[in-house]
Amino acid sequence: MKQLAYLNKYFWKYRGRLLMGFLLIAIGNIFSVYAPVVVRDGIDFLADALRVKNDLGTDQILQAPSSFQHIASWIGSSASDITLNTSNYADTVVRMGLLLALLYLVMFIVKGVFLFYQRQALIVMSRHIEYDLKNEVYNKYQDLDAAFYKRNRTGDLMNRISEDVNRVRMYTGPAVMYTLNLIVMVVMCTVVMLQIDVELTLYTLSPLPFMMLAIYYVSQTINKKSELVQQQQSRLSAMVQETISGIRVLRAFHREDHYSTSFTDESATYRGKQLNLVRIDALFMPVIVILVGLSTILTVYVGAHKVMAGEISPGVIVQFVFYVNILTWPFAVVGWVTSLVQKAEASQGRINEFLQTRPDIQTPAQPVTFSAGTIQFDHVSLNYGDSGVKALDDVSFTIEKGKTLGVIGRTGSGKSTIAQLMPRMMDPTSGKITIDGKELSTVSLSELRNQIGYVTQEVFLFSDSIRNNIRFGCDPSEEDIIEAARRADVHDNIMAFPDGYDTLLGERGINLSGGQKQRISIARAIAKNPDILIFDDCLSAVDTQTEDRIIKGLRKVMQGKTSIVIAHRISTIKDADQIIFLDQGKVMARGTHEELLAQDGAYAALYRKQLLEEADPKV
Ligand SMILES: Nc1ncnc2c1ncn2[C@@H]1O[C@H](COP(=O)(O)OP(=O)(O)OP(=O)(O)O)[C@@H](O)[C@H]1O
Ligand SMILES: [Mg+2]
Repeated sequence: MKQLAYLNKYFWKYRGRLLMGFLLIAIGNIFSVYAPVVVRDGIDFLADALRVKNDLGTDQILQAPSSFQHIASWIGSSASDITLNTSNYADTVVRMGLLLALLYLVMFIVKGVFLFYQRQALIVMSRHIEYDLKNEVYNKYQDLDAAFYKRNRTGDLMNRISEDVNRVRMYTGPAVMYTLNLIVMVVMCTVVMLQIDVELTLYTLSPLPFMMLAIYYVSQTINKKSELVQQQQSRLSAMVQETISGIRVLRAFHREDHYSTSFTDESATYRGKQLNLVRIDALFMPVIVILVGLSTILTVYVGAHKVMAGEISPGVIVQFVFYVNILTWPFAVVGWVTSLVQKAEASQGRINEFLQTRPDIQTPAQPVTFSAGTIQFDHVSLNYGDSGVKALDDVSFTIEKGKTLGVIGRTGSGKSTIAQLMPRMMDPTSGKITIDGKELSTVSLSELRNQIGYVTQEVFLFSDSIRNNIRFGCDPSEEDIIEAARRADVHDNIMAFPDGYDTLLGERGINLSGGQKQRISIARAIAKNPDILIFDDCLSAVDTQTEDRIIKGLRKVMQGKTSIVIAHRISTIKDADQIIFLDQGKVMARGTHEELLAQDGAYAALYRKQLLEEADPKV
């Protein structure tokens, strides 16, 4: 239960509901425990009435049933004895039976009302806790850095916020409720039974611990097997999901049969595991029925002896049998509750694990203020720890405020890595990055990121309207949105859709072409009107003519802003104030376009090649 202790703060937060739930359970159970007393009264009264049936010549005085006496004493009077004679015998017995039946019914209605409010208190509490915990997990997700997301798979993280939180809820709700219920019920029933007859109580209750053990073992086995079924189920779902998302590739490569066969195999495994589970599952009820039966037989057998000996009334046997039945369910769920707690413990363990993860990249306690001035990379190197790739190797450059740096180089040369270092998606392994003379790690993360408009290489648009995608970074006016779209040369495209800026994208809407997506993400970055702009290969999916138009549009936007423009094509960056040519993480050459051409090195060679390709794409 170590992991689950984390949740105590929530129990404390909702202590009012928890206490109320407990009280409702206690009061409600008084009625469950009292109802069998009424049944006992009925049977005892009937037995008494039968006993005196042959002596009705003279008035026979019977005691009022104990439940009537209790009720009368509660309201401060006393229940009168019942006189039976030849003329009223049948009527009185029937009326008494009806009265007791009515009392029994009232008990159950009252008990039902309490049951309702008890669930209201406890299950609602668990939903509140679930809500709080989900928010806590979600907020943590927003906090954690790129390194964390690289370590963990998306599906896993999705599971924590849905599946794991749900399992924890089963603990805070049903498990807590059934445990409280079991304790209250056992205590109350045992006390009442012990008051009537200690020996009979022991006989009656003796099979229950065995039942609990048996149920516990059966439940454990069921849990293990259902865990296996769950895993297989996930495999199946993952497989179907991949097939659906990759259906085009699958068709194009004509692999339908192959996939169908593997699906059939996986399905068969699933069926096997499921059947395995059903076999054990089927044991569950028989175990309970046999042990409850045993308890009932013992009660009747021992009870009958005691009735004969005049130690108890016959109604007590029935009362005890009722208690056996009342206790069966709470005991039967012990195994289930145990498994709920175990699962919740494991889930909470997984949740705690990353709630306690401290992101490496954080705002320092005392961030220094800065303005979006000169950006400087000072002997910056970056190793990707896991792959051992040295993505950047001693890279230095300075971009004066308002100037543009062009970055060019082959694929894998480290261009995107430079872009990611700026908004501190990661920190350099060695070297310093400063803005306005302040090291990035000393300034506020949110302020830093607010100043940056970053167009990532992999475009991501949300399943939302185009307008909301563009205004994502801030709250620009409608004119600013349109202006940004114009600059990114995508306004006309957007207007061509029937819904214009309200067009929905993604799963619920339309699909855009790669170039359209890139341009919308450019619009998103510039609509924010940041002081620093980073374009990571954001024109790769458009043709050279469109590229020219966009660059013209961007030139005005970039005026006065410090910019980093990353590209594969020299044409994209040739007007930059300074260009660095990267190869395997190293700066191979730097200067303006003209200077680099004059050096007549790799840059000039690349430029000539690209000019040729443009003239004749077959080269
Ligand atoms: N998350 C990562 N984990 C490990 N290695 C990485 C990671 N991202 C990039 N790399 C490696 O770092 C090197 C530089 O990658 P980077 O993305 O900066 O290249 P790039 O110049 O942007 O390439 P491209 O032009 O294809 O976008 C590559 O060798 C790449 O394999
Ligand atoms: Mg890249």
